[in-house]
Amino acid sequence: MSSLLLTNISRLVTMSPAKDRQGPLGIIENAAVLVTDGRIAWVGKDPESHTILRQAQDERLCDVIDAQGAVVMPGLIDCHTHLVHAGTRHNEFKMRSEGKSYQQIAADGGGIMSTVRATRAASEEALFEEARTRADEALKFGVTCLEIKSGYGLDVETELKILRVAKRLRESHAIDVHSTFLGAHVVPLELRSNRTEYIRQVIEEMIPLVAKEKLASACDIFVEDIAFSKDEARLICAAAKKYGLGIRLHVDQFQDVDGGRFATEVGATNADHLDHLSDEGIRAMAKAGVVGVILPGATFFTGGKHSPPARKMIDMGMTVAIATDYNPGTNPCLNLWLMATMAVTQMGMTCDEALQAITINAAKALNVDHERGSLEVGKVADLILLDAPDEYFPLYRYDKNLVRCVVCKAANENLNSVRCAMQEAKSGKTVSWADVKKKYNL
Ligand code: NIG
Ligand code: FE
Repeated sequence: MSSLLLTNISRLVTMSPAKDRQGPLGIIENAAVLVTDGRIAWVGKDPESHTILRQAQDERLCDVIDAQGAVVMPGLIDCHTHLVHAGTRHNEFKMRSEGKSYQQIAADGGGIMSTVRATRAASEEALFEEARTRADEALKFGVTCLEIKSGYGLDVETELKILRVAKRLRESHAIDVHSTFLGAHVVPLELRSNRTEYIRQVIEEMIPLVAKEKLASACDIFVEDIAFSKDEARLICAAAKKYGLGIRLHVDQFQDVDGGRFATEVGATNADHLDHLSDEGIRAMAKAGVVGVILPGATFFTGGKHSPPARKMIDMGMTVAIATDYNPGTNPCLNLWLMATMAVTQMGMTCDEALQAITINAAKALNVDHERGSLEVGKVADLILLDAPDEYFPLYRYDKNLVRCVVCKAANENLNSVRCAMQEAKSGKTVSWADVKKKYNL
């Protein structure tokens, strides 16, 4: 058994409110955290930690790390990304600046299809290297759990290639990776005159293979004029459920497709985008407990005139999460903090709500809230140390990455690396455990 005691924490943001903690984020001031075998074993006031330490009896079994007054909170969770792809679409950004719409570019065979062409042409190795670099970048922003969708293959071979890359990341990266099959992103160009054939491939070929190889835990569908109709989506959902996949949706992004009600009808865990979500949709999602994932970066970067009605969603009882939607077309940005700032300034969320939305609520969207998203006894000890006077400061200084150190995947790893990470951090550098491991050959 290996233990780690993190002491001298100015504010411990547990994300689990309780009587003896402050506010909706459950803050403990002057706190300490005991981690045993990668799980939270105890949280509380710093002075009490000495008793805890004595109880551990053999201090040699317990590493003690001085957090030097840092703010500590759960690792961030990015619950919606398209991390695995080849190529960029900066040319389309320029075209949009000159007046061409996202939908027009898509209709002309660009947009998602242009990334599909690049991704089909890329080797699995090249895709992996690119995706790993992006995951490293997300980790530096404090993301310790990340969802990855396929959807840039749109044929059996390439959809599986993308999901295998995601699987390799899951097995090798410090970030906890969750994969979603998004074969129903759009109908590929070569089958635009035979949609039924593509939907058949998704249902009869891709979903069974994805399930057989355990390459994804959920299936996502883009329901929109330029993508799939609700009737088509119903067929795909039925097949996905038959194979034990959960349901996520891209809905109400560019138009109101009655996405909220549809999400409850098909039993989705979460529905994402929601820029055009109606009041009926909000009511339905709130009642059924479907998590609403808003993607402020995509709203911002596509210059959408509609924003998700986040304030109303929360006021009417919905659980709202925020994600980056990182992708080369509508949001080439991995900074989840910045997304939270946008939700505050553009969508009426409070700072507390935005912080919940990138931790505990995002964990709910991914169905991992029993393991992650808050610092509670028994949960995975993925935590981040902030160089900031409080937890709101990173939302305010939106130009900076204030994550000083990331502690994650402590479960099966040598805790020495955490100590090394802290020592590196003392020198003022932003370090990730992955970097430290590489450097110290751990
Ligand atoms: O979530 N809405 C559909 N899919 C992506 C965009 C993908 C792309 O443009 O490459 C999104 O915004
Ligand atoms: Fe998306």
